[in-house]
Amino acid sequence: MCGIFAYLNYLTPKTRREILELLVNGLKRLEYRGYDSAGVALDSPDGKDMAIVKKSGKVKALEDEIFSKEKTLDFDSSTDCHVGIAHTRWATHGVPSEINSHPQRSDVNHSFVVVHNGIVTNYKDVKLFLEKKGFHFESDTDTEVIAKLVLHLYTQHPTYSFRELVEQVIQQLEGAFALCFKSKHFPGECVATRRGSPLLVGIKAKTRLATDHVPILYSKDAEAQNPDHRPHGRGEIPILPRSDSTAEFQPLEDKEVEYFFASDASAVIEHTNRVIFLEDDDVAAVKEGSLSIHRLRRTLDESHSREIITLKMEIQQIMKGNYSYFMQKEIFEQPESVVNTMRGRLNFETGSVVLGGIKDYIPEIRRCRRLMLIGCGTSYHSAIATRQLLEELTELPVMVELASDFLDRNTPVFRDDVCFFISQSGETADTLMALRYCKNRGALIVGITNTVGSSICRESHCGVHINAGPEIGVASTKAYTSQFISLVLFALVLSEDRISLQSRRAEIIKGLENLQEQIREVLKLDDEVLALAKDLYQHKSLLIMGRGFNFATCLEGALKVKELTYMHSEGIMAGELKHGPLALVDKNMPVLMIIMRDPVYVKCMNAVQQVTAREGRPIVICEKGDTETQSYAFKSLEIPRTVDCLQGILTVIPMQLLSYHIAVLRGCNVDCPRNLAKSVTVE
Ligand code: F6R
Repeated sequence: MCGIFAYLNYLTPKTRREILELLVNGLKRLEYRGYDSAGVALDSPDGKDMAIVKKSGKVKALEDEIFSKEKTLDFDSSTDCHVGIAHTRWATHGVPSEINSHPQRSDVNHSFVVVHNGIVTNYKDVKLFLEKKGFHFESDTDTEVIAKLVLHLYTQHPTYSFRELVEQVIQQLEGAFALCFKSKHFPGECVATRRGSPLLVGIKAKTRLATDHVPILYSKDAEAQNPDHRPHGRGEIPILPRSDSTAEFQPLEDKEVEYFFASDASAVIEHTNRVIFLEDDDVAAVKEGSLSIHRLRRTLDESHSREIITLKMEIQQIMKGNYSYFMQKEIFEQPESVVNTMRGRLNFETGSVVLGGIKDYIPEIRRCRRLMLIGCGTSYHSAIATRQLLEELTELPVMVELASDFLDRNTPVFRDDVCFFISQSGETADTLMALRYCKNRGALIVGITNTVGSSICRESHCGVHINAGPEIGVASTKAYTSQFISLVLFALVLSEDRISLQSRRAEIIKGLENLQEQIREVLKLDDEVLALAKDLYQHKSLLIMGRGFNFATCLEGALKVKELTYMHSEGIMAGELKHGPLALVDKNMPVLMIIMRDPVYVKCMNAVQQVTAREGRPIVICEKGDTETQSYAFKSLEIPRTVDCLQGILTVIPMQLLSYHIAVLRGCNVDCPRNLAKSVTVE
């Protein structure tokens, strides 16, 4: 996840200092979307060139850099028309560095610059195509191909409008993106578009808007267009028909209108509450105070205009969307974050899985003695959650280790071991030290992180970026489900050529395909979970029991309850109940049990009966429609069924919601629990 912010005015007097302040403030509002580097581009004072400033680190570092260049940036001059685009980055391709920061440029002359949020999955093909055309790349980003592609198209078709060029560009891109372009060849203009990543237009006017709808303009011969044209494997980019529509929409009589493009409303709300949320494949262009929204092809069911919506929210509210806390927002982002983890890696039709970051090491991994999965806290739980599947699909011994304990034991490690280091932040000291310990012993090091350029990323031989987007809440939620999926994808890669495992692979892939919808369904239980939280929040303790594929959910659920609510909680392996924990059970002790119709179902039913026999009143998470299991429960939550090995992704979500609601009811600071930090960089 990254943040995009752009500003344009036409005939509104503003100094360059004011524009720069405006851009930096917009980025500060979006910083929660990414904070490893930032950059801005704006017109040079004569409008003939562009000034670009980029800096690694937080927006504050960029701000200091900008304000140290007061003279060169010509702060006090003012022209009638200004365009500036800005970006705060959360790295997905290429480490955080100035060269990889956005705006990315087409060439040293800054013919075109672009800011991007998302992942272009076919960027390697486009890059290859452009390299053959003589382009030289300076960054490791997927975004740079976009800047260079638009220049390539411009040199081929110099009569095209800026908006038409962008329309052509997006036909060549696969993946998810929100983009905002600026060009030296089109001074005073800005073009923005999106597919899969959010983008809105903010409109600030002195006078009343003439309308509250912006009509959509379409290209002619839309039916003749073939969306499957891609540059790779072809000599030339097929150019699609040009739009026949030249009429630009004039929403205002007042020419002193100001426009904004932003990833979300938090960045524009202090300027205007009137916004248009762009839809996938909309191309929005602003030129001389006029906004137009184009689409290449018309579909039957779509609306023919975009509504200008009046937002009624406060800034703080908007930063977190409709959510009260970042943790809550991150829980509800999971339908999207799990898809982002799979995007461009898993082909649901063919069943092929490619993990670009480790693909060259697969032969070595196949020859290894064992797999070791190492992490702390929630990241460790993702290893527990996937161990059984890894054993099944890789047919290798799999050890799962807490980083601190692994080091305490001076665990033997060999050259033919493959060691996975799982860490959201990529900076956890215990995990990092365990990594160095294994590296010194000659093992292959695989990093599984959410933070490109982190220490674990840099020190690994290869790795998988989980692409969950920045996680702000201290308690990890969406990173857990994305770590889980990354490890499942790895298991699928290693079993690709095992004939005997093909039907198992196929059911898992089908399960992954349905996951987004099923997560949405589980999230609808929020009110039921809140009611449960109201029953539980005054208790001192909560036991969470399960086994098999769902044991990790018990550990993870208990960790969430402990860290957020300061209540005691324990994740208990149901098979261990009679070896001690059963002594805790009576009619007052809250017990939550996860009982799915998987290979350990009968054993779990055994456990539930042991609990009820001691007057325990189990709250059961079970499969939708499983009335038999519910008949043993004091209360129950029904969740959709998926493949046994993926069920933990669905069972953990009610636990995240429960811990969240109990924390709120107990008056705890949800996003910053006491004594804890997001990134634990000390032993
Ligand atoms: C719990 C939590 C922690 C982290 C742990 C490791 O909600 O977030 O247990 O999982 O501190 O952190 P990373 O994954 O950054 O290595």
